[in-house]
Amino acid sequence: MKLADLIIENAAQVLTLKAAKNAAAAEEKLGIISEGAVVIADSRIAWAGPSSEISSEADLSRNPRRIDASGKVVLPGFIDSHTHLVFAGTREKEFELRLQGASYQEIAAQGGGIKSTVQKTRQAGKEELFAAGKRRLDQMLSLGTTTVEAKSGYGLYTQDEIKMLEVIRELDHSHAVNVIPTFMGAHEIPPEYAGRKEDYVRLVIEEMIPAVAENKLAAFCDVFCEQGVFSPEESRRVLEAGKRCGLEAKIHADELTSLGGAELAAEVGAVSADHLLFASDRGMEEMAEKGVVAVLLPGTAFFLFLGRYAPARKMMERGVAVALASDFNPGSCMTQSLPLITTIACTQMRLTPAEAILGITLHAARALKREKDLGSLEPGKQADLVILDIPDYRHLSYHFGINHVWKVIKKGGIAWEK
Ligand code: NIG
Ligand code: FE
Repeated sequence: MKLADLIIENAAQVLTLKAAKNAAAAEEKLGIISEGAVVIADSRIAWAGPSSEISSEADLSRNPRRIDASGKVVLPGFIDSHTHLVFAGTREKEFELRLQGASYQEIAAQGGGIKSTVQKTRQAGKEELFAAGKRRLDQMLSLGTTTVEAKSGYGLYTQDEIKMLEVIRELDHSHAVNVIPTFMGAHEIPPEYAGRKEDYVRLVIEEMIPAVAENKLAAFCDVFCEQGVFSPEESRRVLEAGKRCGLEAKIHADELTSLGGAELAAEVGAVSADHLLFASDRGMEEMAEKGVVAVLLPGTAFFLFLGRYAPARKMMERGVAVALASDFNPGSCMTQSLPLITTIACTQMRLTPAEAILGITLHAARALKREKDLGSLEPGKQADLVILDIPDYRHLSYHFGINHVWKVIKKGGIAWEK
């Protein structure tokens, strides 16, 4: 018998994501239990199975709260494995300029883009950044997200990068949503280093990374490997320096041009390579070989109307685990909705709804190295769940543009409800 603090029962479907042995098809990997139930004790999943077995499985001595999920779908809390959560100011003017024909790179070259957000973020105090971050996390939670990765990279000056990471830490400590920090000092070359990129790379390597690591402010180190930003060689140096200080590698790779970012991710043993619209066949094969997770961000391709998407099916055929994330940021993707991202992934990259759910749960947990604790409803894992008011999991992607979230359970407690 399993002790119970909370029982969710009678769900039309419980998606445990506990794959049947040798499950090949994504649908089998969802581990669907019809008329399912989940038992939670001490903030952890204690059991998941058919509702009809609760009386023989659950110890009711703690007088557990019971939630009737009739006609609804229960699944792991969504994990957004790539966001730029903390920033000041917004860039709706650039959105309009892009609609009139300017490209993301042209706007950046004219001092807009990342640099304009850097200017505002440098001017902002921690309280302002925290308040904006909190509001954004509230919105994410209401859309079913229970864990978020958040990058620095709008400071580009040691003290401002640290300021951003301290805000990220405070958000993690004070909000129901878990926030996992990534240092991204190599997001852009700040204006005061124009024409002196090598000096900036050295600042990132010699000053920022050690300071961030010493204060345990980040788990990952990320770099924007892109034409006009950081070359593969510069990116490799930054990521190797991060690794020496205990920060695991992530890369913004092959987003706008084919630069060998996927190959670099494999070479440095990155946890994930992200974007990958222009990833080469060889790069994908090497990622598969090294177990690098592909974090695909189709919302960005959609919002920048790039006219192409990452070759997700090719990656999956080669055995690369595909995660999906929002890339939430004020320039290239201003949305926090992972359900919307799944719809774009299905319609534009031909993922199945089941593959899309894997992408925002189990594979996203892998992209953050948290798969032992998050991403599925298996006994022992943290009790982070979403209950959707839909009769079948496919409606999450199929019935798009509205919020189906009915309740969000975080660490065994109700964190948000309709
Ligand atoms: O992932 N590619 C670089 N960084 C972000 C965009 C950040 C911004 O435009 O402010 C991205 O798309
Ligand atoms: Fe990004």
